Amino acid sequence: MCGIVGYIGPDVAYPLLLTGLKRLEYRGYDSAGIATKKIASEIGFSDSNVDVSDSILIYKEQGKVANLEGKGAELVGNMGLAHTRWSTHGEPNSVNAHPHTNMDGSLVLVHNGIIENYLSIKKKLEAKGYSFRSQTDTEVLVMLIDYHFQKLGDMELALRASLHDVVGAYGIVLFHKDEDKLYAARKGSPLVLGIGNGENFVASDPAAFLDRTRRVLYLEDDDILIVGKDSYELKSLCKHNGECIKRKEDHIDWDIAAVEKNGYDHFMLKEIHEQPVTLANCLAGRIDKMFGDIRLSINLPVSFVRGLRRICIIACGTSSYAALVGKYLIEKYSRIPVEVEVASEWRYKNPIVGVDDLVVFISQSGETADTLAALKLAKSRGAKTFGVINVVGSSMAREVDTGIYIHAGPEIGVASTKAFTGQVLCLNFLATKIAQIRGDLTQDEIRAIIGKLEQLPKYVSECLELSSSIENVAKRICNAKSVFFLGRGVNLPVAKEGALKLKEISYIHAEEFASGEMKHGPIALLEDGFPVVTFLSKNDPLFEKNLSSIQEAKARGAFVIVVTDHVDSTIALASDCSLQVPVVPDYIMPIVNTIPMQLLSYYVAKERGCSIDQPKNLAKSVTVE
Ligand code: M6R
Repeated sequence: MCGIVGYIGPDVAYPLLLTGLKRLEYRGYDSAGIATKKIASEIGFSDSNVDVSDSILIYKEQGKVANLEGKGAELVGNMGLAHTRWSTHGEPNSVNAHPHTNMDGSLVLVHNGIIENYLSIKKKLEAKGYSFRSQTDTEVLVMLIDYHFQKLGDMELALRASLHDVVGAYGIVLFHKDEDKLYAARKGSPLVLGIGNGENFVASDPAAFLDRTRRVLYLEDDDILIVGKDSYELKSLCKHNGECIKRKEDHIDWDIAAVEKNGYDHFMLKEIHEQPVTLANCLAGRIDKMFGDIRLSINLPVSFVRGLRRICIIACGTSSYAALVGKYLIEKYSRIPVEVEVASEWRYKNPIVGVDDLVVFISQSGETADTLAALKLAKSRGAKTFGVINVVGSSMAREVDTGIYIHAGPEIGVASTKAFTGQVLCLNFLATKIAQIRGDLTQDEIRAIIGKLEQLPKYVSECLELSSSIENVAKRICNAKSVFFLGRGVNLPVAKEGALKLKEISYIHAEEFASGEMKHGPIALLEDGFPVVTFLSKNDPLFEKNLSSIQEAKARGAFVIVVTDHVDSTIALASDCSLQVPVVPDYIMPIVNTIPMQLLSYYVAKERGCSIDQPKNLAKSVTVE
């Protein structure tokens, strides 16, 4: 959600922080701010009259990061912090924007997350004479650190004492006017250290500094990091003696081009068009044609997989629709009951889960707060956990017992596209592998599945050729008040995904229904010109039933858009527009049929002039509850 960038080094921090913030814009935000200060050692002879204590400058603005541009002449410090805020406590304005400071401005802090007990802490601090300018929980945190600093006279001790007082989630970076050090700490909100040559960065996402360094260290919960310009110390909040921890550094293997638009108008469009490649990357090395095998080390004991009586799949949003496809596949191949639930429900319902269960967690970001909390809950109950995750090194990736990466590369558009198709492909791998281990599919059946999965990049490329037809359809429905998406079986998750995509980026009300449910109520809403999007596959045993649902909608004046693998006179008569996709088996259909859904929502939103990559009120990665 909110984005953090911190820098300390020999260069002027402001342009680096600004660039970093721009790369984090995709996360969703409503205000932004920057604070810089001069490092004592970087103040040259001519600057010898500059009082370091007075060298902190802060700019905060409501709205876009671009509003912070043009401050270069004033913000000349060599260390600093920057932040994009997605409001939780208090309205989006420049006062509530980060960074926040203590009362005399000597302590500067940016924060992602929520301090749940901030009101009680605020009351105690007010009783001790503290006064507050903003409505935020973050300002309470910086005042609390100040309070402890006044008593202890040491930043690290003050930080430790404060973090022991707070309840909630945080990823914070702060500095004190008299120290040339950045302090960072994490609980539940991602932070990563970028280790450069004589300079260091701390950010919520490595995209912020990738052009300067790819050497990184991911922070874990309860970590405290103290960063100088050419050194760092990693410590733990749980170790009171303050001894340093050693942790393996990582190397990011994608480059800055992956987080730039490369000539596309929007990241979303770029990411839609990347899918033949991202799916090929996901397939790479995982298919053994010669032996008809899926090379997937799922790292679960064979006896456990053979004895499975139930699987749960937990996720949020688009990832939860991929989960529904996973349920379809596992239940079809192995007849193991699969429960799919959104993480925000599952984690609070005292779920029935234990040592005999496999719980699969699906997440693009690997940081979604509800899914991460659900994962911790499953582990605490002894369940085996499996992740289907995109972001390498993310919190979930580090927490699960085992899992599989999607390899879709950075997804910047808030509307998830390439991650969804990658998730569905990975769930195909998982379902087929489980079936193989249990002997639920024959070797010939597995070979046939593998053969088709390998064709996916080609099928998706064919779907992308529908772009201009879909753009025309978009022009015809872009003024609709509401759109229905109808699906059945494996296409019901696709209908859900189509409706979510449309509402999140075009702000048109959209709803999905199981095709057979229309006549139980929703059909009452149909009227002349009401857009209804649906799917028809010639080889579907329920083809006739699906056709009837379409005819019923058409008879009530609906404007029917059919995604189909076969166009004939019957389908032409039953619909207003047909979008022809390749003929594929059911397990591939959700991927193929989703491509027109992505393009349709993109072109409708474009037609309506919406902010496609950063839709209002939405954040890319929901790291707060
Ligand atoms: O990163 P995650 O996959 O855990 O995110 C889950 C949802 O927040 C996400 O899919 C959201 O629904 C997207 N905006 C959908 O386009």
